Amino acid sequence: MFRKFVAFVVGTVIGLASSVSVSHAEEVNVYSYRKPQLIDPMFAEFTKQTGIKVNSVYAKKGMLEKLQSEGRNSPADLVFTVDIGRLSDIHNAGLTQSVNRERFAGNIPDNYMAPHGHWFGLTTRARIIVSSKERVAPNAISTYEDLADAKWRGRICTRSGKHPYMVALTASIIAHHGLEGAKTWLSGLRDNLARKPQGNDRAQVKAIKEGVCDIAVINHYYMAKMFKDPKQLPWAEAVNVIFPNQSGRGTHMNVSGVALTKYAPNKDNAIKLMEFLASEAGQEMYAQKNAEYPVKPGVAWSDLQNSWGRFKEDSLSLGVVADNRTAAVKLADEVRYND
Ligand SMILES: [Fe+2]
Repeated sequence: MFRKFVAFVVGTVIGLASSVSVSHAEEVNVYSYRKPQLIDPMFAEFTKQTGIKVNSVYAKKGMLEKLQSEGRNSPADLVFTVDIGRLSDIHNAGLTQSVNRERFAGNIPDNYMAPHGHWFGLTTRARIIVSSKERVAPNAISTYEDLADAKWRGRICTRSGKHPYMVALTASIIAHHGLEGAKTWLSGLRDNLARKPQGNDRAQVKAIKEGVCDIAVINHYYMAKMFKDPKQLPWAEAVNVIFPNQSGRGTHMNVSGVALTKYAPNKDNAIKLMEFLASEAGQEMYAQKNAEYPVKPGVAWSDLQNSWGRFKEDSLSLGVVADNRTAAVKLADEVRYND
């Protein structure tokens, strides 16, 4: 008997990038905010080891609404997201189910598993500062707080203040400095912008290469991606990498993770895939292929990660960051960050 994972994206308006139509006895269906090239290699290895086919659909946004409208008929077993905010949104909407935390206890540290078992972090990513090798002295900037210093007036580039990566960083500033302190910070950063916030993380590095600005904030793994792309290599080579706040609280980290959907039709296979990704082999692939930091302790990093060395991470709980997100978006509006 063939089961059909129908081309359910047809006719939707939420920006799903591809459709899937396959027949397979053993399968698991994935909705992913993560770009296919980032996780397909892991899925391929999982299929090789288990014979279980992974059908994945990439969505830029609208996944929560999609799961909601599909309800019990949703084909999705697992949701992969970046950013704690999206994981907690999907959980808060009642669209997930818990997985026994014990199954992952050896691989995923406690602080990366939701206490209720409804989502799990698989990798972490550092929100780093990059600065022009030509125009900024290597030690001239070392903290997120420095970004708001008036001496950088007109020299900083960032993406939208309402993108989840920026929102999470602002949410962490709220946690550390309070709402008023965060407002002062974000206003200072806004005053230092060289241009209206735009583009993705890599576009900021390109802007440094092109002399539009001298300093930017990006997720660390984009450095690895740029080094591998001949066109982007010169952008990466134009900047120094700074892990902020090393003599204080540490660098802000965000997480990529996974949740089991409430009505997962292939629940057993879904849990097998989660276990694979949390295993030594799965975690090592994340580091070697994507230069993401494995949540599992002791897993080997990529050469680029090793070249940067160990660093101190901000230990602020993911839950606190999630809780401050709404306030962070409001702040971006209040200070008219994107205008
Ligand atoms: Fe990203």
